[in-house]
Amino acid sequence: MKLRYLRYMECFCSSGQFSAYNLLNGRLAAVEQNDRPDLVVNSGLVRCDKCGRCFPVENGIMDALPDALSEFKCTEALKAGCMKLGIECRKEDPRKGNPDNASNAKRSEITARDEQAEVYHTYGYSLYGRNEQKLIRNFLKFSKNDVVIELGSGTGRVSQEIIDNGFRDYVSIDFSAQSIQLFKQKLDKKTRERVFFLVGDVCALPLKSGIADKIVSAQVFEHVPGREEQRRFLGELQRLLKSDGLAAMTVYNYNLKKRLDKRISRQGFHSGRIYYENFTYRELKSLISPFFNLRILKGINCDYPFARRLKPRTQEFMESVLAATPLGSYLGDILFIGLSLRARGPRIVRRTGQIQK
Ligand SMILES: C[S@@+](CC[C@H](N)C(=O)[O-])C[C@H]1O[C@@H](n2cnc3c(N)ncnc32)[C@H](O)[C@@H]1O
Ligand SMILES: [Zn+2]
Repeated sequence: MKLRYLRYMECFCSSGQFSAYNLLNGRLAAVEQNDRPDLVVNSGLVRCDKCGRCFPVENGIMDALPDALSEFKCTEALKAGCMKLGIECRKEDPRKGNPDNASNAKRSEITARDEQAEVYHTYGYSLYGRNEQKLIRNFLKFSKNDVVIELGSGTGRVSQEIIDNGFRDYVSIDFSAQSIQLFKQKLDKKTRERVFFLVGDVCALPLKSGIADKIVSAQVFEHVPGREEQRRFLGELQRLLKSDGLAAMTVYNYNLKKRLDKRISRQGFHSGRIYYENFTYRELKSLISPFFNLRILKGINCDYPFARRLKPRTQEFMESVLAATPLGSYLGDILFIGLSLRARGPRIVRRTGQIQK
């Protein structure tokens, strides 16, 4: 992690002042940030000067989880280094003593995603991903000057779009440390150092407001448990985006096939561990449109009888026809959303998730 990425950080206490420490040969030492912005901290610590919260860095990945999800997983070497320098990590759990359902659901997903990280890329079929990537690419039109944030990168299935099309800085966030680690390993050394990897919760991020030209989030929103957390997710999206920025998301669609299949519930837990919710077109529209200009909302990856038995080119042709019509919102397996900020309109308050008119 390059020290200059600290310019994007803002602690949960709202301070933007941090001290950085490097762990080298078992010794923890403070690093002077100003004259060495390109210095890479692979192992060490970033600490908020105001509240004393610590964000450990391991393998170049920062643990930026909010207190409620943080597990204080510091290595022994880091703990020993902190003891020696008299550094005490001060975190507080805002929901202390009262573990809420949302945190429990998130913890359960973190464990499941960590376990599945190695096999995640085998899920789905190739046309499915290609459609999604093409829409993201065409809507966001990445450029070399963009600061791009990906919310829920997983093992990097759609991230290659960002890497291939160019960026100035790229912040990749997921709360599964294993998934982020695997994604990082796939990249060559030069690209790896150009990415700011965060293990974080997309509903509460220690990042400054208005930093992103582009935000991508593929198939993450449906795993955010409940309306209050979903509003927090949208609040972070609204807060992080520059006023002229663009964001693209894909979300599970409650399409006809799922509605007719009695084995599929609208909402539940995959394998009992990963929360999911299927959204209808109208539901998503009413959730999102008060806060954003909805530039595109349409169903994609249409599912209809025998679709998967057709030749790839025929499937592709059918997809282009169906997704372009309102039929797409009934057949699409997922909904594609392209949005920008509203100049005026309600804001979502960062900590409470409440709506401010
Ligand atoms: C279905 S996977 C999609 C991964 C990747 N975007 C892709 O399209 O392949 C959902 C990802 O979102 C992550 N995720 C879900 N909720 C999250 C949260 N609250 N904060 C951070 N990551 C989250 C999961 O760990 C998982 O990697
Ligand atoms: Zn702080």
